[in-house]
Amino acid sequence: MLKQIEGTANFIKDRITYDPEVGIILGTGLGGLVNEIDINETLSYDDIPDFPVSTVEGHHGRLIFGRLNGKSVVAMQGRFHYYEGYSAEKITFPVRVMKFLGIKHLFVSNASGGVNPDFEIGDLMVINDHINLIPNPLIGKHEKGFGPRFPDMSNVYDSNLISTFKQIAKTHDIKLQEGVYTAVTGPTFETPAEYKYFRIIGSDTVGMSTVPEVIVAHQMGIPVFAISIITDLGVPGKIMEVSHEEVQKVASKAEKKMTLLIKEMMGKL
Ligand code: HPA
Repeated sequence: MLKQIEGTANFIKDRITYDPEVGIILGTGLGGLVNEIDINETLSYDDIPDFPVSTVEGHHGRLIFGRLNGKSVVAMQGRFHYYEGYSAEKITFPVRVMKFLGIKHLFVSNASGGVNPDFEIGDLMVINDHINLIPNPLIGKHEKGFGPRFPDMSNVYDSNLISTFKQIAKTHDIKLQEGVYTAVTGPTFETPAEYKYFRIIGSDTVGMSTVPEVIVAHQMGIPVFAISIITDLGVPGKIMEVSHEEVQKVASKAEKKMTLLIKEMMGKL
């Protein structure tokens, strides 16, 4: 595994002009950020040795290298999900590669279903903790070069990044929620009983991504910032039918504010 990661990182290094400082996983609702990147290089996932390839509609598959508001970034346009049939280890392979490329921060976005009754559709929620219900990506052979075998998880989401982000949102009068994201495998959305259960166990929102990548980034010592767009509500009395299309539609409406906030954030790192 370590050899593969090094091999992939070296393949990429030979093709880029400068090393990225920031990694960004462009989840649902952050696709528009690409238009703000002064692009230097792009590499299709198909052309990168050992890289997984995205199979989900609406998720492209390439690595984008360039500058965003003064920072050199690598953005993943298209991410991988456990429900696609990849192992949690494979999903997180790109994060390990980005670490080997030298990133100092990781930004992640996603779409999720709100189970906190105070949430509204279209809200942005800063993730300050998580509950992982997807198999752990660290299961398997341990490589010393990855970090600890048993990582501490008492403080995963970087509090400095969170407070900077909140300040930026305040300046723009953008409403922010903050809370716990629970990661599930999908691909089914939840039943009403499941939404209720997720609220009871301490979730504010439920989604099908992000946590595997965050666990790996944290193990490797990368400060993480993650944000979720609430695209539907799993709150008793407010539960409506949900579809992938609806999730994409709501997320794209929030794209403008997400893009603005993440772009400004780069200037504050
Ligand atoms: N549940 C799980 N994943 C999701 C949801 C949801 O309600 N909305 C967007 N992604």
